[in-house]
Amino acid sequence: MRYKVDFLVIGSGIAGLSYALEVSKYGKVTILTKAEAVESSTKYAQGGIAAVMYSPDTYEKHIHDTLIAGAGLCDEKSVRITITESTDRIKELIAWGAKFDKTSTGVYDLAREGGHSEHRIFHHQDNTGAEIERALLEAVRKNKNIELKEYQFTIDLLTQHHLGKEANRHMDNVECYGAYVLNKNTNTIDTYLAKVIMIATGSNGNVYSATTSPVVATGDGQAMVHRAKGWLKNMEFVQFHPTALYNPIEKPSFLITEAMRGAGAILKNMNGEAFMSKYDSRGSLAPRDIVARSINTEMAKSGDDHVFLDCREISKEEIMHHFPHIYAKCLEIGINITKDMIPVVPTAHYGCGGIVVDEYARTTIKHLYATGECSCTGLHGANRLASNSLLEALVYSRRAALDSKEAIKDIDFCNQIPDWNAEGMIFNEEMSLITQTQKELQQIMSNYVGIVRSDLRLQRAFIRTGLINKETEELYSRSVLTPQLCELRNLIANAYLIIKMAMERKESVGLNYNIDYPPKK
Ligand code: FAD
Ligand code: SIN
Repeated sequence: MRYKVDFLVIGSGIAGLSYALEVSKYGKVTILTKAEAVESSTKYAQGGIAAVMYSPDTYEKHIHDTLIAGAGLCDEKSVRITITESTDRIKELIAWGAKFDKTSTGVYDLAREGGHSEHRIFHHQDNTGAEIERALLEAVRKNKNIELKEYQFTIDLLTQHHLGKEANRHMDNVECYGAYVLNKNTNTIDTYLAKVIMIATGSNGNVYSATTSPVVATGDGQAMVHRAKGWLKNMEFVQFHPTALYNPIEKPSFLITEAMRGAGAILKNMNGEAFMSKYDSRGSLAPRDIVARSINTEMAKSGDDHVFLDCREISKEEIMHHFPHIYAKCLEIGINITKDMIPVVPTAHYGCGGIVVDEYARTTIKHLYATGECSCTGLHGANRLASNSLLEALVYSRRAALDSKEAIKDIDFCNQIPDWNAEGMIFNEEMSLITQTQKELQQIMSNYVGIVRSDLRLQRAFIRTGLINKETEELYSRSVLTPQLCELRNLIANAYLIIKMAMERKESVGLNYNIDYPPKK
């Protein structure tokens, strides 16, 4: 099938949905999403969304906290844009129907997380993301200008390459005309032509064996833009969340929100020692990179595969009120968190880098925007401040909408784009080969490109990933396409970018900790 649409949005998390709601005022919108619409990192967000609302908090304090967490590598312009627009974006989200917890006096009950100097986290119990996703999906489904199509796997972006103009193409003048999309319901590959395309495909967390990101998080947007010759940066800054529930059989890893440490929970080692004060004066509420590395050091010293989070000092009433889902989840596996400590381990959680965008979320490819976790606005620098990512998605999706409403006036559909050519694709390799290769890749990344890196480990990862890439490209060139094969290819591209950028960064800064380059004091 061949479709034409004004605005093509790929992804149904906070970034894609909020953009779609905005641009629906200016034209017809199609949202494509590769699974059930609700399935997204957004749905799993627990702690909440940071925004400045009440005194004594100020924009300057939030800006300062963000810059400190980013370890000197934030783009200050992006930080200022994001924080100073935070109050308006939260109000808009509330107007779309999202509900946040209030105190008995009717004001918002703002939480505090690591690295924040004030209470400024809007939350809905401990499942804020699910509430945001519910509200946005409801608003989208009521909107007559938006068509939401589930189980549509976007394979690749359409550019001059698909017009046979590869030779003339220069990295600075690539244009995007739409996308090839595998309809998982019919098993056909459709052509979507669009005037403006928004990539909002989220995280690449599944490049690692253990991640809090859902299974849909395979870095498809980052890989598609890389193949289309768009720019990416800061991919080496992978954030490991210090406290995922230690339960190796579970995928994705279940998060124990940082808000719990904000409420008084303390990290302890197997001997019951509250070890964080040895590493940082902010203790369990130090920035995430420091906490994750400290846990890593404790585990390396003791040989244990987890540490504990002790929340027994938090009142039962507070736990039931603010953390009911974590309480219920832990109880399911036999841990009563009002009496027992929770086994936790650092786990891949968030990619601070991604597709390079400017202040209106424009990528380096014409007519192509990117927002949310797949993008790199410069807000996070070398380390993201907790609860800044949902905010970033809202701010930049809105900015992208303002820009694309103007851009669309001068763009025509590129009707010359041919439909997908499936000729020569006959070889259907057994699925186990794909899943096995994916596991191999995840092991390489977890073993060599984790919280602590070295030049030798990165070199090993580079060589091994190169081999996996060669084998997979060979398979891809002669196989009937499946979403699993496309995802594997995308994960390999993301792994390559993370390793390459980690190799190029000859310093330990923020989330990139390399023992060959000790951090500057
Ligand atoms: P997502 O919400 O992940 O949406 C991406 C969408 O793209 C999905 O619908 C997916 O199916 C679709 N998609 C992907 N590839 C394709 C393709 N090829 N074709 C079609 N569709 C595709 N941040 C905070 O600020 N506060 C928090 O409290 C917080 N808690 C978190 C807790 C957890 C467990 C996790 C994993 C993350 C948390 N984060 C938090 C981070 C935050 O949730 C994410 O950064 C944010 O939700 C990303 O939104 P997004 O719209 O960019 O991507
Ligand atoms: C958490 O709730 O700890 C996650 C917050 C975030 O990743 O921003």
